[in-house]
Amino acid sequence: MRIVGGSPAKEKWPWQVSLRINDIHVCGGSLIANRWVLTAAHCVFGHWEYTVMIGDVHLTTTSKMAVHVPVKDIVIHQNYRASVTIQNDIALALLEFPVNYSSHIQPVCFPEQAFMVQAGTKCWVTGWGKVRETDPKEVIPEILQEAELSIIRYQKCNEILKKKTGSFTNVVKEGTVCGYSSLGKDSCQGDSGGPLVCEFNETWVQVGVVSWGIGCGRKDHPGVYTEVSFYRDWLMYQMTGPSSADSGGLFIHPLCLVLPLGILVTL
Ligand code: ARG
Repeated sequence: MRIVGGSPAKEKWPWQVSLRINDIHVCGGSLIANRWVLTAAHCVFGHWEYTVMIGDVHLTTTSKMAVHVPVKDIVIHQNYRASVTIQNDIALALLEFPVNYSSHIQPVCFPEQAFMVQAGTKCWVTGWGKVRETDPKEVIPEILQEAELSIIRYQKCNEILKKKTGSFTNVVKEGTVCGYSSLGKDSCQGDSGGPLVCEFNETWVQVGVVSWGIGCGRKDHPGVYTEVSFYRDWLMYQMTGPSSADSGGLFIHPLCLVLPLGILVTL
Protein backbone atom coordinates (compact mmCIF):
# COMPACT_ATOMS: atom_id res chain seq x y z
CA MET A 1 0.00 0.00 0.00
CA ARG A 2 1.98 2.82 -0.41
CA ILE A 3 0.16 4.81 -0.24
CA VAL A 4 -0.15 7.63 -2.69
CA GLY A 5 0.07 11.07 -1.10
CA GLY A 6 0.89 9.62 2.30
CA SER A 7 3.95 10.03 4.48
CA PRO A 8 6.49 7.76 6.19
CA ALA A 9 4.91 6.02 9.15
CA LYS A 10 5.06 8.01 12.37
CA GLU A 11 2.76 5.70 14.28
CA LYS A 12 4.11 2.24 14.97
CA TRP A 13 1.45 0.10 13.27
CA PRO A 14 2.85 -2.99 15.06
CA TRP A 15 0.42 -5.36 13.30
CA GLN A 16 1.61 -4.44 9.80
CA VAL A 17 2.91 -7.43 7.84
CA SER A 18 4.80 -7.71 4.55
CA LEU A 19 3.69 -10.89 2.75
CA ARG A 20 6.46 -12.24 0.54
CA ILE A 21 7.31 -14.79 -2.10
CA ASN A 22 11.07 -15.56 -2.30
CA ASP A 23 11.53 -12.70 0.13
CA ILE A 24 10.01 -10.26 -2.41
CA HIS A 25 7.18 -8.12 -1.05
CA VAL A 26 3.91 -8.98 -2.80
CA CYS A 27 1.25 -7.67 -0.46
CA GLY A 28 0.45 -6.26 2.93
CA GLY A 29 -1.27 -8.07 5.76
CA SER A 30 -2.07 -7.67 9.43
CA LEU A 31 -1.37 -9.75 12.51
CA ILE A 32 -4.68 -10.64 14.20
CA ALA A 33 -3.47 -13.42 16.55
CA ASN A 34 -0.02 -14.81 17.22
CA ARG A 35 -0.22 -17.31 14.36
CA TRP A 36 -2.71 -15.63 12.04
CA VAL A 37 -2.26 -12.97 9.39
CA LEU A 38 -5.20 -11.40 7.59
CA THR A 39 -4.70 -10.49 3.94
CA ALA A 40 -6.56 -10.26 0.61
CA ALA A 41 -7.49 -13.33 -1.45
CA HIS A 42 -6.13 -11.73 -4.62
CA CYS A 43 -2.69 -11.67 -2.98
CA VAL A 44 -2.51 -15.45 -3.06
CA PHE A 45 -1.43 -16.91 -6.39
CA GLY A 46 -1.16 -20.65 -6.14
CA HIS A 47 1.32 -22.75 -4.30
CA TRP A 48 4.23 -20.51 -3.63
CA GLU A 49 6.30 -20.57 -0.49
CA TYR A 50 5.13 -17.52 1.38
CA THR A 51 6.83 -15.83 4.30
CA VAL A 52 5.89 -12.81 6.36
CA MET A 53 7.99 -10.04 7.84
CA ILE A 54 6.62 -8.37 10.97
CA GLY A 55 8.08 -5.86 13.39
CA ASP A 56 9.79 -3.25 11.24
CA VAL A 57 8.80 -0.24 9.14
CA HIS A 58 11.79 -0.94 6.85
CA LEU A 59 10.99 -3.29 4.02
CA THR A 60 14.42 -4.71 3.19
CA THR A 61 16.98 -3.30 5.62
CA THR A 62 15.18 -4.80 8.55
CA SER A 63 16.57 -4.54 12.06
CA LYS A 64 16.74 -6.96 14.97
CA MET A 65 13.12 -6.07 15.69
CA ALA A 66 11.92 -7.77 12.54
CA VAL A 67 10.91 -11.40 12.46
CA HIS A 68 10.57 -13.49 9.32
CA VAL A 69 8.17 -16.40 9.61
CA PRO A 70 7.24 -19.00 6.97
CA VAL A 71 3.55 -19.38 6.16
CA LYS A 72 2.24 -22.89 6.78
CA ASP A 73 -1.17 -22.58 5.16
CA ILE A 74 -3.37 -19.98 3.48
CA VAL A 75 -7.17 -20.14 3.54
CA ILE A 76 -8.90 -18.17 0.79
CA HIS A 77 -12.58 -17.30 1.15
CA GLN A 78 -14.59 -20.03 -0.62
CA ASN A 79 -16.63 -17.43 -2.54
CA TYR A 80 -13.72 -15.29 -3.65
CA ARG A 81 -14.42 -14.07 -7.20
CA ALA A 82 -12.17 -11.90 -9.29
CA SER A 83 -14.46 -11.50 -12.30
CA VAL A 84 -16.08 -8.13 -13.00
CA THR A 85 -15.48 -6.78 -9.55
CA ILE A 86 -13.59 -8.52 -6.81
CA GLN A 87 -15.81 -10.21 -4.24
CA ASN A 88 -15.01 -11.77 -0.88
CA ASP A 89 -11.41 -10.63 -1.25
CA ILE A 90 -10.20 -12.01 2.07
CA ALA A 91 -7.72 -14.70 3.12
CA LEU A 92 -6.02 -15.91 6.27
CA ALA A 93 -2.44 -17.10 6.54
CA LEU A 94 -1.46 -19.50 9.30
CA LEU A 95 2.14 -18.99 10.38
CA GLU A 96 4.51 -21.91 10.84
CA PHE A 97 5.11 -20.80 14.42
CA PRO A 98 3.62 -18.16 16.72
CA VAL A 99 5.31 -14.78 16.97
CA ASN A 100 6.17 -13.26 20.33
CA TYR A 101 4.51 -9.94 20.95
CA SER A 102 6.77 -6.96 21.66
CA SER A 103 6.56 -3.22 21.43
CA HIS A 104 7.05 -3.68 17.66
CA ILE A 105 4.78 -6.68 17.20
CA GLN A 106 1.16 -6.51 18.37
CA PRO A 107 -2.10 -7.86 16.98
CA VAL A 108 -4.81 -5.48 15.79
CA CYS A 109 -8.34 -5.85 17.13
CA PHE A 110 -11.13 -6.79 14.85
CA PRO A 111 -14.74 -5.70 14.98
CA GLU A 112 -17.90 -7.61 15.85
CA GLN A 113 -20.03 -8.93 13.00
CA ALA A 114 -22.62 -6.18 13.36
CA PHE A 115 -20.12 -3.37 13.71
CA MET A 116 -20.57 -0.81 10.98
CA VAL A 117 -17.99 1.90 10.67
CA GLN A 118 -19.83 5.14 10.01
CA ALA A 119 -19.43 7.27 6.93
CA GLY A 120 -17.04 10.13 7.62
CA THR A 121 -14.98 8.27 10.24
CA LYS A 122 -11.28 9.10 9.91
CA CYS A 123 -9.13 5.99 9.53
CA TRP A 124 -5.61 5.07 8.42
CA VAL A 125 -4.24 2.84 5.73
CA THR A 126 -0.63 1.68 5.80
CA GLY A 127 1.68 -0.18 3.46
CA TRP A 128 4.72 -0.45 1.23
CA GLY A 129 2.78 -0.09 -2.01
CA LYS A 130 3.54 2.33 -4.82
CA VAL A 131 3.72 6.01 -3.96
CA ARG A 132 2.60 7.08 -7.44
CA GLU A 133 0.09 5.42 -9.71
CA THR A 134 2.50 5.74 -12.65
CA ASP A 135 5.46 4.04 -10.94
CA PRO A 136 6.32 0.52 -12.10
CA LYS A 137 5.22 -2.08 -9.58
CA GLU A 138 8.79 -2.83 -8.48
CA VAL A 139 9.28 0.75 -7.37
CA ILE A 140 8.03 0.75 -3.82
CA PRO A 141 9.16 2.67 -0.75
CA GLU A 142 11.61 1.31 1.82
CA ILE A 143 9.75 2.86 4.73
CA LEU A 144 6.15 1.96 5.58
CA GLN A 145 3.75 4.71 4.52
CA GLU A 146 0.57 5.88 6.18
CA ALA A 147 -2.36 7.93 4.98
CA GLU A 148 -5.52 9.19 6.63
CA LEU A 149 -8.79 8.50 4.81
CA SER A 150 -12.43 9.20 5.39
CA ILE A 151 -14.89 6.28 5.32
CA ILE A 152 -17.59 6.03 2.65
CA ARG A 153 -20.25 3.27 2.98
CA TYR A 154 -20.43 0.85 0.08
CA GLN A 155 -23.80 2.06 -1.23
CA LYS A 156 -22.59 5.63 -1.73
CA CYS A 157 -19.23 4.36 -3.00
CA ASN A 158 -21.06 2.22 -5.56
CA GLU A 159 -22.97 5.25 -6.82
CA ILE A 160 -19.74 7.23 -7.18
CA LEU A 161 -17.77 4.50 -8.96
CA LYS A 162 -20.69 3.44 -11.15
CA LYS A 163 -20.95 6.97 -12.42
CA LYS A 164 -17.18 7.25 -12.91
CA THR A 165 -16.96 3.99 -14.86
CA GLY A 166 -20.24 4.34 -16.71
CA SER A 167 -21.23 0.91 -15.46
CA PHE A 168 -24.88 -0.20 -15.39
CA THR A 169 -24.25 -2.92 -12.85
CA ASN A 170 -23.12 -2.50 -9.28
CA VAL A 171 -19.38 -2.34 -8.90
CA VAL A 172 -19.10 -2.03 -5.13
CA LYS A 173 -21.02 -4.68 -3.24
CA GLU A 174 -22.01 -5.47 0.33
CA GLY A 175 -19.04 -6.68 2.37
CA THR A 176 -16.85 -3.76 1.39
CA VAL A 177 -16.23 -0.28 2.69
CA CYS A 178 -14.49 2.59 0.90
CA GLY A 179 -11.85 5.11 1.92
CA TYR A 180 -11.24 8.47 0.31
CA SER A 181 -9.15 11.58 0.74
CA SER A 182 -9.72 14.80 -1.18
CA LEU A 183 -5.98 15.43 -0.67
CA GLY A 184 -5.19 12.60 -3.10
CA LYS A 185 -4.16 10.08 -0.45
CA ASP A 186 -4.96 6.48 -1.30
CA SER A 187 -3.65 2.95 -1.16
CA CYS A 188 -2.08 1.60 -4.36
CA GLN A 189 -0.54 -1.52 -5.88
CA GLY A 190 1.50 -3.40 -3.28
CA ASP A 191 -0.72 -2.19 -0.45
CA SER A 192 -3.31 -4.89 -1.06
CA GLY A 193 -4.05 -7.19 1.81
CA GLY A 194 -2.94 -4.53 4.26
CA PRO A 195 -5.04 -2.97 6.99
CA LEU A 196 -7.39 0.01 7.12
CA VAL A 197 -7.64 0.81 10.83
CA CYS A 198 -9.64 3.24 12.93
CA GLU A 199 -9.14 4.23 16.54
CA PHE A 200 -12.12 3.83 18.87
CA ASN A 201 -11.77 4.43 22.62
CA GLU A 202 -7.99 4.28 22.32
CA THR A 203 -8.15 0.90 20.62
CA TRP A 204 -7.10 0.38 17.01
CA VAL A 205 -9.60 -1.72 15.13
CA GLN A 206 -9.14 -3.08 11.62
CA VAL A 207 -12.22 -2.23 9.59
CA GLY A 208 -10.89 -2.96 6.11
CA VAL A 209 -8.43 -4.94 3.97
CA VAL A 210 -6.97 -3.13 0.93
CA SER A 211 -8.71 -4.67 -2.09
CA TRP A 212 -8.95 -2.55 -5.24
CA GLY A 213 -9.35 0.86 -6.79
CA ILE A 214 -9.35 2.67 -10.11
CA GLY A 215 -5.87 4.08 -10.46
CA CYS A 216 -4.51 5.49 -7.21
CA GLY A 217 -5.26 8.78 -5.53
CA ARG A 218 -7.49 10.03 -8.33
CA LYS A 219 -10.02 12.69 -7.55
CA ASP A 220 -13.46 11.27 -6.73
CA HIS A 221 -12.25 7.65 -6.98
CA PRO A 222 -12.47 6.07 -3.51
CA GLY A 223 -10.41 2.96 -2.77
CA VAL A 224 -12.35 -0.24 -2.01
CA TYR A 225 -11.63 -2.33 1.07
CA THR A 226 -13.01 -5.69 2.21
CA GLU A 227 -15.12 -4.95 5.30
CA VAL A 228 -13.65 -7.02 8.14
CA SER A 229 -16.78 -7.02 10.35
CA PHE A 230 -18.80 -8.58 7.51
CA TYR A 231 -16.44 -11.58 7.55
CA ARG A 232 -16.01 -11.93 11.30
CA ASP A 233 -17.85 -15.24 11.55
CA TRP A 234 -15.87 -16.64 8.62
CA LEU A 235 -12.63 -15.50 10.26
CA MET A 236 -13.54 -16.97 13.65
CA TYR A 237 -14.59 -20.23 12.04
CA GLN A 238 -11.34 -20.53 10.11
CA MET A 239 -9.27 -19.79 13.20
CA THR A 240 -11.11 -22.07 15.61
CA GLY A 241 -13.28 -24.38 13.50
CA PRO A 242 -12.80 -28.08 12.84
CA SER A 243 -10.80 -27.47 9.66
CA SER A 244 -7.89 -25.91 11.47
CA ALA A 245 -5.67 -28.54 13.01
CA ASP A 246 -5.13 -26.37 16.04
CA SER A 247 -6.43 -23.01 17.12
CA GLY A 248 -3.23 -21.29 16.13
CA GLY A 249 -2.76 -19.94 19.62
CA LEU A 250 -6.01 -18.03 19.50
CA PHE A 251 -6.87 -18.89 23.07
CA ILE A 252 -3.40 -18.46 24.42
CA HIS A 253 -3.29 -14.77 23.71
CA PRO A 254 -6.20 -12.40 24.01
CA LEU A 255 -8.00 -11.30 20.92
CA CYS A 256 -10.07 -8.22 21.34
CA LEU A 257 -13.38 -7.54 19.77
CA VAL A 258 -15.25 -4.33 19.36
CA LEU A 259 -18.98 -4.60 19.83
CA PRO A 260 -21.53 -2.71 17.76
CA LEU A 261 -22.04 -0.30 20.62
CA GLY A 262 -18.38 0.36 20.88
CA ILE A 263 -17.96 -1.55 24.11
CA LEU A 264 -14.63 -3.30 24.27
CA VAL A 265 -14.34 -6.84 25.46
CA THR A 266 -11.34 -9.06 25.70
CA LEU A 267 -11.85 -12.73 25.00
N1 ARG B 1 -5.12 -4.22 -5.88
C1 ARG B 1 -4.05 -3.43 -5.41
C2 ARG B 1 -2.93 -4.33 -4.94
O1 ARG B 1 -2.88 -5.45 -5.38
C3 ARG B 1 -4.51 -2.43 -4.40
C4 ARG B 1 -5.14 -1.31 -5.07
C5 ARG B 1 -5.77 -0.35 -4.17
N2 ARG B 1 -6.08 0.75 -5.00
C6 ARG B 1 -6.59 1.90 -4.62
N3 ARG B 1 -6.68 2.85 -5.48
N4 ARG B 1 -7.00 2.07 -3.38
O2 ARG B 1 -1.99 -3.94 -4.28
